[in-house]
Amino acid sequence: MSTADVRSSAWAELLRIGVPADLRSSFADDPDRAARFTMTAGDLLVDLSKNNWSDAVRRELLSLAAACDVAGGWAAMRTGEPINLSEGRSVGHTWLRTPRGESIVVDGVDMVSKVNDALDRMLAFVDDVHAGRIVGASGRNFTDIVNVGIGGSDLGPRLAYEALRSRRVRGVRCHFVSNVDPANAADVLAGLDPESTLVVVASKTFSTEETMANARLIREWLASVTDPSGHMCAVTVDATAAQKFGIRDDLVFPFWNWVGGRYSLASSIGLPVALAVGSAAFRELLAGMRLIDEHVDRSAPADNVPLAMALVGAWNARVVGTTSKAVVPYAHDLRSLPTYLQQLDMESNGKSVRRDGSPVDGMTAPIVWGSPGTDAQHAYFQLLHQGTQKVAVDFIGFASSNDGPPELHDALLANLLAQSRALAFGRPDSETQRMPAAEHRRFGGNRPNTVVLAPRLTPSTLGQIVALYEHVVFFQGLLWDINSFDQFGVELGKEMAATVRQELSSPSDVATDSSTRGLTQWILRHRIEGV
Ligand code: F6P
Repeated sequence: MSTADVRSSAWAELLRIGVPADLRSSFADDPDRAARFTMTAGDLLVDLSKNNWSDAVRRELLSLAAACDVAGGWAAMRTGEPINLSEGRSVGHTWLRTPRGESIVVDGVDMVSKVNDALDRMLAFVDDVHAGRIVGASGRNFTDIVNVGIGGSDLGPRLAYEALRSRRVRGVRCHFVSNVDPANAADVLAGLDPESTLVVVASKTFSTEETMANARLIREWLASVTDPSGHMCAVTVDATAAQKFGIRDDLVFPFWNWVGGRYSLASSIGLPVALAVGSAAFRELLAGMRLIDEHVDRSAPADNVPLAMALVGAWNARVVGTTSKAVVPYAHDLRSLPTYLQQLDMESNGKSVRRDGSPVDGMTAPIVWGSPGTDAQHAYFQLLHQGTQKVAVDFIGFASSNDGPPELHDALLANLLAQSRALAFGRPDSETQRMPAAEHRRFGGNRPNTVVLAPRLTPSTLGQIVALYEHVVFFQGLLWDINSFDQFGVELGKEMAATVRQELSSPSDVATDSSTRGLTQWILRHRIEGV
């Protein structure tokens, strides 16, 4: 049988086994269910028991994983095979957190030395900034860092900066300019003084339209400084383009084509984070990621937590019928995690063809969305509990808070645990029937959810959570046989924007379509002069 046939027959068997009756009876019939479906990786506990699956389903999903050779796929990534087939590249984000002393040699190049040389150089720069050895042109310390980047060159640093609030170095704040909307730069720059601002232009390609437009704008804003050249650094694969832009050689920090933008937090793209929290905390972040890489390296498939989450996610979408996945961190400081995971998951696996170009059968990446609890409860949890769609929910929480008072943190955690219970078990109809408007108060439950817990939000646990999800996405890519590492789907819109832009400046010259022309003409008629 071909691999595709083996996959299809595994799914046929899964459909035959089917979804267990309901979570209430699954728990009632099996006192060990929670223990059996709860797993650990590094410092993380992942409770998968409130998903609508059974031991038989899990066994068959693991057979599916074996049929898809997930172990071979993981090894191929770790050892630098060019698994990003459409672009002929290796995928090396896990190497970024490999400490010296290990050996990864790809095409004769010692990757461990390469990444650690770059890391040491970047962190030495960070230490120099913190010690006041590197200062602004007028001798003032850098107090504000402006990261100019978008997508993977923005979302990871933004997530980590917010998440590591409790570890920030006093006197250093980060700001993020990503959108080509001039309001973004205007808003950020309004409160800043160029004399004490260090700008990081973060772009793997150093050609992304939004980033380059903002970088030019901010270069002008810096012009009032006596010597602006010391106020702008670059993080990029294309050092030549950065130098041409006017960035000093010694302020260009490298990374490599084998690091995907959405997988780049551990690379020099993390520079603003390191500037915010210091080199020791940045190394802790990398060590946290490494813990999960090692967890996958060392675990048998049945104990591999990202694999289990990948399998249950595929099961939910394909058989249970979930229409999307909500990520709800019960942590204000993780408020950007859902957006970060949108790019990670949807840009990686939002594809319709297999690696060989043939169409996939069935669902690939879920729609990922979410926001922090408890705010989320007061926005869309109504639909999660009683709507017509089933949404898979990942709850993320921490045993202890970095802030007091503890009573508030207990209230937060109680809400997390209660929402997870309420979604899974609902309320028995016998109780609801005694209530007024009983039919409106019915909670059927049986809505799948996963709980991820960590002791506390630290650089290490943040790194573990990020790496956990990176590997969930990786394994799902293998299950669906898609290339998770290209993103051609974002290109057409970019190309068309160039054409539409011409139409905005000289309306009759370029042929688009009657809708776009109509919209363009309306915009031109309604423009307010001088704004
Ligand atoms: O959204 C497309 C994309 O290429 C992402 O994959 C990437 O993270 C982002 O644009 C930014 O790209 P760059 O870092 O090259 O500016």
